[in-house]
Amino acid sequence: MKILSTQVLLRNELEQLRAAGKTVGFVPTMGALHAGHCSLVKRCVAENDVCVVSVFVNPTQFNNAEDLAKYPRSLERDAALLEQQGVALVFAPTPEEMYSPEEMNHTFEFDFGGLDQVMEGKYRPGHFNGVVQVVSKLFRLVQPRKAYFGEKDYQQLAIIRRMVKVMDFNVEIVGCPIVREPSGLALSSRNERLSADEKQRAVHISQVLFESRNLAGKHTVQYVQNWVVEQINAVNGLQMEYYEIVDGTTLQPTSVWDNAVGCVTVYCGPVRLIDNIKYTTTQNQ
Ligand code: PAJ
Repeated sequence: MKILSTQVLLRNELEQLRAAGKTVGFVPTMGALHAGHCSLVKRCVAENDVCVVSVFVNPTQFNNAEDLAKYPRSLERDAALLEQQGVALVFAPTPEEMYSPEEMNHTFEFDFGGLDQVMEGKYRPGHFNGVVQVVSKLFRLVQPRKAYFGEKDYQQLAIIRRMVKVMDFNVEIVGCPIVREPSGLALSSRNERLSADEKQRAVHISQVLFESRNLAGKHTVQYVQNWVVEQINAVNGLQMEYYEIVDGTTLQPTSVWDNAVGCVTVYCGPVRLIDNIKYTTTQNQ
């Protein structure tokens, strides 16, 4: 496995691999890797000749300086993990390598078709501009045949699918299911910042979401939405930012259960956690 920190080195490696007829798969990450990331990497290794993983804490998608400063960084550990998984190339650039000062300081413009007006987009203005900025840059650099994203970041996945259409990238986007702890807590690099006590409280988030599945179909969407908000806010130490049941494709609020996804963001102490649940899947199971 090679760890490369410049675009030129990565391009050269990829040119050689492509000349040898190898297919390239890609997993973009911000590092501090856990089993959720590894599920994407495993799939990428299995489905492509060469798996490229980027490890880059992208400053332009953070709208909170403290969150950026506190984001866990552990390249050595990440690299060891990726080597075990059979990854061929790790791309770990500095912010200066990725962006000119202009790019770093100006919001990247993109027509989100409304996908950025709800949920994460509403509460983290500019966040998805940074995500599209970095992922489009990485796609141009790596030119993967397939790229892997987690359903944990449901809105991000929808936006990446739109980006591929609008920008005409020749890449298949593969969405991968949420990986959870045995307790149900969705794995996240931010979980590292939770105390043992906070972690126990955070478990309620997924528990309430799972329970709400039993209410779906029997009650209106509005009823279940209110119920989830009440249940989570009733837990000491959890503070709901939003819970919205939306159409799984348009991400607009919905009043029907067909294709409905519930997306939640909760503060557990100072740590912002996100999770989501598909309602339709259960009904079909
Ligand atoms: P990061 O949070 O590191 O996540 C990298 C990928 O791992 C994303 O596609 C995310 O959805 C997926 N992932 C994280 N936790 C997961 C879990 N518990 N189960 C399944 N998949 C999970 O998302 C980003 O980085 C950045 O925004 C990025 C796309 C790299 C752009 O900077």
